[in-house]
Amino acid sequence: MPIVPQNQSPKDKADDCNASAATFVSTIEPLMKAKCQNCHSNGNGADGVNLEGYENIKKQAAKGILMKVIEHQEGVPRMPKMASKFSDCDINQVKAWIAAGMKE
Ligand code: HEC
Repeated sequence: MPIVPQNQSPKDKADDCNASAATFVSTIEPLMKAKCQNCHSNGNGADGVNLEGYENIKKQAAKGILMKVIEHQEGVPRMPKMASKFSDCDINQVKAWIAAGMKE
C-alpha cells in the first residue's frame, strides 16, 4: 500500500523522510520511549494503555487507536498529551510500519 504523506511542511518533504525504512527498533520504539512512555509504560499505564515493549505497542497499533491519537483524529484524545504533535515524518513512519505488518 503506498503511503501518501499529507499536510507536508516544507522541511518535511518525502526526500528527507524515507517512511518505508522505518523499523520497530530504529524508529517506532524510540518514538514511543521519547514521547509516550512517560505516561504509558509498564509502571504507568494512563487510561489502561501501555506502550512499552513490542507486544504492547503492536496491540495498540493493531486496534487502530495508535494512529488515531497521533494523527489527532476526531473523537479521540490527542497524543502525546500536553506536547506537540508528531512531525509529518514521524506520523508517516508509524503509518508505514503498520501498513508493512508491524514487524518486530
Ligand atoms: C503526559 C502524559 C501522556 C503522554 C505523554 C501520552 N499520553 Fe496517551 N493518554 C494520557 C491520558 C491521561 C489518557 C487518557 C485520556 C485523556 O485524559 O486525554 C491517554 C490516552 C491514550 C490512549 C487511549 C485513547 C482512547 O480513546 O482509547 C492512547 C491510545 C494513547 N493515550 C496513546 C498515546 C501515545 C501514542 C502517546 C505518544 C505519542 C501518548 N499517548 C502520550 C496521557 C499521556
